[in-house]
Amino acid sequence: MAETETNPLRRPLPDGIVPEGEVTRTENRWIAIVLGMLGVMMAVIVVTGVTNALHPPSNVEIIDPTTLHLGGEFAESNLGTAAEPDGSVTVRLIAEQYNFVPECVRVPADTPVKFRLSSADVIHGFLLVGTNVNTMVVPGFVAEVRTSFNALGDYRMPCHEFCGVGHQGMWAHVNVVPKGRFPHLSTTERTSCVQQ
Ligand code: CUA
Repeated sequence: MAETETNPLRRPLPDGIVPEGEVTRTENRWIAIVLGMLGVMMAVIVVTGVTNALHPPSNVEIIDPTTLHLGGEFAESNLGTAAEPDGSVTVRLIAEQYNFVPECVRVPADTPVKFRLSSADVIHGFLLVGTNVNTMVVPGFVAEVRTSFNALGDYRMPCHEFCGVGHQGMWAHVNVVPKGRFPHLSTTERTSCVQQ
């Protein structure tokens, strides 16, 4: 009561009207702050895109999600890690409510790895924590990501697109082992680290 009347910061204004000059100054300050925030966000996108190679996947390949399990590339016997003649490996996974198949993938370190995923139902997300691997798995399409791992160990692989009530329980792992400990696979063999 008396406190507000004696507040030295409170300037008496006629009928509470703020002077026009002050309104303009405040608005200009906010425009400058917003432009600065936009500039910082654009810089973060450009810098991370250039330095961490974060970019949208360019692969467009279509597939029938209703017949994934019946045969072809995503038949159950073809899932997991396959060795390629050039020394690289290809990992094939299916994302479905609410798991990845296989749920544990083994790959060798310091080796080019190509992940190929498809969804049997709704949109899921494919993300490897601590790497630049991050894409959506959209039914009807094959998601392809190429990478290689130089650090050994277990990479967590959460689904990061909300896909239903079981979304938060949809996890898998990628286990990176030394090249010498990776099994020698024939062209038809597939491997994973799923406990049988
Ligand atoms: Cu699958 Cu969220």
